Amino acid sequence: MRLYRLGKLGGPDALQLKEAEIPRPGAGEVAVRIRACSLNHRDLNIISGNYTSVALKPGAIPLSDGAGEVAAVGPDVTRWKVGDRVAPIFVQRWLGGNLLPEYMPSALGGPSDGVLAEQIVLSQEGLVRIPSHLSFEQAATLPCAAVTAWHAALVKGQLQPGQTVVTLGTGGVSLFTVQFALMTGARVIATTGSEEKIERLRKLGVSDVVNYRTTRDWDARVRELTGGRGADLVVEVGGPGSLAKSIGAIRYCGHISVVGNLAGKASIDPAPLFAKRGSMCAIQVGSRDMFEAMNRAIGAASLNPVIDRVFDFAEARAAYEYLLSGKHFGKVVVRVS
Ligand SMILES: NC(=O)c1ccc[n+]([C@@H]2O[C@H](COP(=O)([O-])OP(=O)(O)OC[C@H]3O[C@@H](n4cnc5c(N)ncnc54)[C@H](OP(=O)(O)O)[C@@H]3O)[C@@H](O)[C@H]2O)c1
Repeated sequence: MRLYRLGKLGGPDALQLKEAEIPRPGAGEVAVRIRACSLNHRDLNIISGNYTSVALKPGAIPLSDGAGEVAAVGPDVTRWKVGDRVAPIFVQRWLGGNLLPEYMPSALGGPSDGVLAEQIVLSQEGLVRIPSHLSFEQAATLPCAAVTAWHAALVKGQLQPGQTVVTLGTGGVSLFTVQFALMTGARVIATTGSEEKIERLRKLGVSDVVNYRTTRDWDARVRELTGGRGADLVVEVGGPGSLAKSIGAIRYCGHISVVGNLAGKASIDPAPLFAKRGSMCAIQVGSRDMFEAMNRAIGAASLNPVIDRVFDFAEARAAYEYLLSGKHFGKVVVRVS
């Protein structure tokens, strides 16, 4: 079978296309024929060598997100049969309850081997069934970005119908947040740094869009758009560079789900958060329980993930380059087989 391994880190050239024996499942394990993978911002950090929180082993298989079908089951497997349509969970050992630090080494695509391969073997516990209306390419977008958005907006963010959520940019996490919020009956105020993407957000059903590059004080604009009250929730992917504005954008006792750090590092003053009696919590993707709950909602709403481009397996480097360019709107997918 074909697979990619990571060579010398520094950018997409680190991807090395290789051949290997098809892995066989042991007791309690399942072999999955991967049909599609998707990329996340994290994968750019990993391939560039900037993902310092993870010790990658040499020759690791990249990417956490994929979908496929069960190709073989090992002894004692009770959860799956050949042909089942599945996706791996991001932190393989996090099935439910609180995340524990000892689960983190089981995160796919770093430190554990990932999914950019024609076939992989995982524990039978580390998979979920994918919604039946989704193609493999669509389902491959779910394990990291969608589960993170679900956790940030609906689990920790407790977003309710009629409430207002602010999203930052139009990457994977933010567009899933937009879709889940609209599905819930919440109002979305979306931000983007691109005039062209404003139209695409409107087509998704977002009526209030703010360009964070031309409206530097986008927090003031959020307050204006909410009659001075502020938003109930911000799903923060900008990080320290935008956190002060997110605090400015929330209402009294509003909440910020802290997900990412696209906007770089800066110090923040906790006093404005205190003045608003606001709350903040950090989000790490989500558990298998969250993934399954999200899939039920995606199925019930017939929600379709936003895919920007699909690349062939042989073009995986080009897929990374495209994500790096920042031109994408939603998810970048690699078709495997
Ligand atoms: N904690 C977790 O478990 C977790 C899980 C998933 C992701 N993350 C993090 O969340 C962030 C987003 O990840 P992703 O995979 O959704 O990213 P992505 O798909 O690569 O999207 C990035 C988008 O964000 C926007 N953006 C870029 N620079 C920005 C800035 N300075 N301020 C505001 N928006 C900016 C751009 O959209 P426009 O062109 O529309 O402006 C860009 O297309 C990353 O930092 C990632 O590491 C964390």
